[in-house]
Amino acid sequence: MLEMTIGRLHNKTALITGGAAGIGAACANMFVRHGAKVAVADMNIGKAEELASHLQEMGESQSIAVQVDVTDDRQCIQAVDHTVDTFGKIDILVNSAGITPRYASHELTFEQVWDQVIDVNLKGSMLISRHAANHMKQQNCGSIINIASIRGLVGYPDFITDGFHPYPHSKGGVVNMTRDMAVGLAKSGIRVNAVCPGFTHTDMTRGAKENPRIYQSIIELIPIGCFAQPEEIAESVLFLASDEASFITGACLVIDGGFTAQ
Ligand code: NAI
Repeated sequence: MLEMTIGRLHNKTALITGGAAGIGAACANMFVRHGAKVAVADMNIGKAEELASHLQEMGESQSIAVQVDVTDDRQCIQAVDHTVDTFGKIDILVNSAGITPRYASHELTFEQVWDQVIDVNLKGSMLISRHAANHMKQQNCGSIINIASIRGLVGYPDFITDGFHPYPHSKGGVVNMTRDMAVGLAKSGIRVNAVCPGFTHTDMTRGAKENPRIYQSIIELIPIGCFAQPEEIAESVLFLASDEASFITGACLVIDGGFTAQ
């Protein structure tokens, strides 16, 4: 059994979308280590179940897997309800489900790819937040953390962007959606924040890593000189989820090794 750390999320329950992989999975791991009960919600139910049972074994906290496609409002309602039915409440929502056009089918048109990326990254975060917030309002407390991106803060000409790339468009939406939700939900005791990671070692960036020329050109743009590990993003998500961040809402915490400071 994994040694429990201080338990900064003791008695808290969390729903993490995109929780089966990458940054979401790192958050799930860290939350369980800090005493939270975690619902690993993902479209990939096989991977979500695998992680949930691993988490169940490693800690004393309860973990469940929940299948959800965040672009489907009905599935978002079911995911939130299932979490509340199992754990009795929902204190924390982490919106980590996200895609780049790389995951889209080659048969789709430009417009369909744009819609798909916006649907998952922006609309999906909004839909599930709305249902989680309805439960959090009844408790008069809660914390929502959106995984945005530095691509939501700045434009930059990279190897794929021609100014019409849905990913930065979606993440820019997530950044201001975070502020809007934060203001709208503050009186209900719900804090809403975002983290804006830079390049992070996950499946999403595998393509870039497998191309030495592209990888090197990205590394040269990062003052710290490397990609982040998913756990380095999860540390900040943990902070924003915890009561230690009780006066922080509407913030976008940049975690990018200095990329946007230049
Ligand atoms: P990942 O590809 O490793 O994991 C994403 C997870 O989301 C997968 O488990 C996938 O099954 C799930 N997912 C995708 N579409 C879904 C849907 N419609 N409904 C439910 N689940 C769905 O990606 P990674 O890197 O962990 O990304 C997590 C978040 O962090 C994303 O929002 C991404 O845009 C953001 N981000 C990632 C960065 C990176 O460099 N990896 C940098 C900045 C932001």
